[in-house]
Amino acid sequence: MPRQWLPPLPDPQQTGLTGADKVASAAVTESFQELASVDGKIGPTAEATIGLKDDGLYRGDGAFEVIRLYGGKPFALADHLDRLGRSTAAIELEFDRAALENEIEALLAEAGPVEGQMRLIVTRGGRRLAMTEPIPPHPETVRLATVTYCPTVILNGVKSLSYAANMQATRIAKGQGADEAVLIRPDGTVLEPPTSSIFWVSPEGALRTPALSDGVLESITRDRMIKALQVEEGTWHVDDLHAAGEAFLASTTREIQAVSAVDGLTFDAAPGPRTREAQDAFAETLGRELREL
Ligand SMILES: Cc1ncc(COP(=O)(O)O)c(C=O)c1O
Repeated sequence: MPRQWLPPLPDPQQTGLTGADKVASAAVTESFQELASVDGKIGPTAEATIGLKDDGLYRGDGAFEVIRLYGGKPFALADHLDRLGRSTAAIELEFDRAALENEIEALLAEAGPVEGQMRLIVTRGGRRLAMTEPIPPHPETVRLATVTYCPTVILNGVKSLSYAANMQATRIAKGQGADEAVLIRPDGTVLEPPTSSIFWVSPEGALRTPALSDGVLESITRDRMIKALQVEEGTWHVDDLHAAGEAFLASTTREIQAVSAVDGLTFDAAPGPRTREAQDAFAETLGRELREL
């Protein structure tokens, strides 16, 4: 069935959440005790401090990770620490991985069996931070708007603290009545949303995602999808995304989230059958990996 053109809807709340979603997420957020480890010193995040003179703050010079906690168990922790190692190596920043691993263990023991996420930050000033946080609320479906973006090349694939451009892209998309951006190179090559990977189903029925060589982040959720499903990695023009039959986002915090529209072009179903298949595959992978912890 041909897809239907609809003008982008303004989202007055700028979040894409319903009132019920907001009440539920506020309750979760209020009951969550956020803890921070600063170089191994654990306490409430609201009371944690680091010295102001740190280029992590002054220049966004550092790297970070966000890891999902399921009943207090960190999903794919080793993969996240490996990526943190690659990010820090790319910006010539040394950190003590063994010390951070011990600090994470102590933080998670203190936090208990929480449903949440853990943020890791290493700064140019030499700080090792680990924090537990509530999971940000994500609605079941998301509307995307394309935003033109040029990767820095030097920081390709690096999860650096310099995410202001990514955050601005989301604000631009919201200003256009969508919920989230999808970054597109000036030549039309599809990259990724600011904090997730994208997959879509081509008119021929192939599941597609941009190749890492196009400068997208080596997403851990993307990796799990590529291992579980038949996925074509390649260089794709935005026209291919506009012609898609369905699409979904993949990330640590979103897991697999259905896309309902791209640039005002709505999909017949969100989640569609391939998105549901991806959700099932992710749930299966997650269950297996958590049982192995
Ligand atoms: C730019 C970007 N792409 C993709 C992702 C998804 O990565 P992961 O699946 O490892 O959470 C993220 C995560 O925050 C990201 O920042």
